[in-house]
Amino acid sequence: MSTNNTLFRPFSLKSLNIKNRIVMAPMTRSFSPNGVPTADVAAYYRKRAEGEVGLILSEGTVIDRISSSNDANIPHFYGTEALTGWQNVINGVHAAGGAMGPQIWHMGIMDNHRSGWVPSQPFEGPSGLNRPGNTNGATMTDADIADTIAAFGRAAADAKRLGFDCVEIHGAHGYLIDQFFWDGTNQRTDVYGGKTLPERSRFAVEVIKEVRKQVGEDFAIIIRLSQWKPADYNNLLAKTPQELEAWLNPMADAGVDIFHCSQRRFWETDFEGSDLNFAGWAKKVTGKATITVGSVGLDGEFLAAFGGASSNPSSLDELLRRMDRGDFDLVAVGRPLLADPHWAQKIRDNRTEELKGFSKEALAQLV
Ligand SMILES: Cc1cc2nc3c(=O)[nH]c(=O)nc-3n(C[C@H](O)[C@H](O)[C@H](O)COP(=O)(O)O)c2cc1C
Repeated sequence: MSTNNTLFRPFSLKSLNIKNRIVMAPMTRSFSPNGVPTADVAAYYRKRAEGEVGLILSEGTVIDRISSSNDANIPHFYGTEALTGWQNVINGVHAAGGAMGPQIWHMGIMDNHRSGWVPSQPFEGPSGLNRPGNTNGATMTDADIADTIAAFGRAAADAKRLGFDCVEIHGAHGYLIDQFFWDGTNQRTDVYGGKTLPERSRFAVEVIKEVRKQVGEDFAIIIRLSQWKPADYNNLLAKTPQELEAWLNPMADAGVDIFHCSQRRFWETDFEGSDLNFAGWAKKVTGKATITVGSVGLDGEFLAAFGGASSNPSSLDELLRRMDRGDFDLVAVGRPLLADPHWAQKIRDNRTEELKGFSKEALAQLV
């Protein structure tokens, strides 16, 4: 099958109606002073819609908890000013024929940001830890947990009210929800902890249920998950397909429509005896739609990029082979779209000689 047939088929699921299978991966840009997305941020997203990206997922945007962020330039998804900024963003994306969902986020317990900025209350998480052996915040009380779940629900309700097409819950990469999943950071002995992954998933399930309650049945809910953690790239939360099923199905039952399966390299496998990737397995064990991600169209992975490594364009053949086989429904693309709003059009039109690759200079500005 050709690239066009595979990647440029429309996709519909509940509120989400998109013209192709290309998703802009959520990427923190820190260009929103005091948490308010500016006109430049709106123009940046609009350009991706003009560039034929099917679905844009926003950078992580934090929910209404005092210590949900470690950086004053990361956008909020609460408060009149920030939500007015987001209204401008979605209006621009829709005017250009695109679709978009915010990625709603609570960072949990972080290292202090290099800028020196800290929230006015300590970071909060399941057990005070942001990685095994490192405490940098408070252990959440039942009241903290209940208020955080409610804040996720309010953010999702606002996403729908503002006219976004879906919402993505950030449950990956070692942030709050993932801190509950991982026994390296969740040492609770109450109902939010436990020896098994399904027990430690209770917080996520309650967040999803609240989000579903707030947005109704017909609004598409995505959750982003990762087996890997920044503190342990080789970590496997689910060590077998059976554990994966036991982890994901309660979230599907709680209201997830699409699992966004974060990998650093999409072709890597977690379980022996199969070449299915995380998104492939998630689709197989839940029957839900999935998004794959990780070094699509690039020869180097994204965490090395933060250290300054550049990446060159690479072939999409392996991605297309897996997609044609039905492993996953959608493909998220990060750095190529950060650097080049026209990436999707160039792929569609086979203008491969015009693809730019990625170098860390692209992080310094919104293009
Ligand atoms: C600058 C930058 C910021 C990122 N911020 C986020 C984020 O806010 N939320 C998230 O889930 N992932 C974030 N990621 C990860 C990307 O969504 C994506 O999974 C990763 O870059 C791999 O895709 P790629 O190889 O196509 O770049 C970020 C990545 C980059 C490069």
